[in-house]
Amino acid sequence: MEALAETVRRLSASSRRTYQNPYEAIAWPDDLDRRQWFTSPQFVSLYGTPAWESLDDDRRKELSFWEAVNFYSLNIHGEKALMEGLAHRLYQPGMEAVAEYLHHFLDEENKHSVWFGTFCTRYAGKVYPDRKVVFPRDHAEGEADFLFFAKVSIFEEIVDRYNVAMGRDDALVPVARQINANHHAEEARHLVFGRRIVQELWREWSGRWPDEVVDGIRSYLTAYVEATWREYYNPDVYRDAGFSDPWKLAREAWDHPATQGHRAAINRSCLRPLRQVGALEAP
Ligand SMILES: [Fe+2]
Ligand SMILES: [Fe+2]
Repeated sequence: MEALAETVRRLSASSRRTYQNPYEAIAWPDDLDRRQWFTSPQFVSLYGTPAWESLDDDRRKELSFWEAVNFYSLNIHGEKALMEGLAHRLYQPGMEAVAEYLHHFLDEENKHSVWFGTFCTRYAGKVYPDRKVVFPRDHAEGEADFLFFAKVSIFEEIVDRYNVAMGRDDALVPVARQINANHHAEEARHLVFGRRIVQELWREWSGRWPDEVVDGIRSYLTAYVEATWREYYNPDVYRDAGFSDPWKLAREAWDHPATQGHRAAINRSCLRPLRQVGALEAP
């Protein structure tokens, strides 16, 4: 972990330099007309499917609002698990060298959840519940820390593809654009840290793990990638957007070649760091 010292120093200095008050970072309108874009069309989960084609412009925009509520909700649930894991690792033996940065990471995730939570509660009156099921498992030495940071990396790399594009999309309502742009600005550091610590932990441990542990890690992370993507196809969203059979629609959307192509294109680039270390198989 000593090899991370320079990265930790550089990222911590950047976090201090851009430290922000989360209550001033976003301009919150009192209320929002839902006949506007909240999610860029190409990131709406039904984009390219017959259901999308069946909607007129106003209904597509309404759907883009509920998709934003879902995207922010899954970020809240992801960040909750992330904050628990980061807090757990503060000053844990073996993690001393990165403690300085874990404080910033934790602080920034809490601020992000303030933004996501404010949007959801203020404009939708709710946060969608977490659907992810966590199966408890035993770990070899070093495995739990590796899996924690590998999962964080998968989750954050996918989210960031959405944030980067939507933070620059002038067609989006300003509050949605600002949330995405501000999130990306801080996540850029988390991604650097995530890639480095995953590399470092793999280098430190993988040679000591028997083959069955390494195989178990690969299949666990492959399943995690799929579970992460499943959350982007939420029947609650389709119900709120006025569809009559939301579960069937979620299955059809997931299976459609257009959405398979969308996920595959993002996976190709954002899972590269984990494939490069050998923790995920090539697609
Ligand atoms: Fe975040
Ligand atoms: Fe993050």
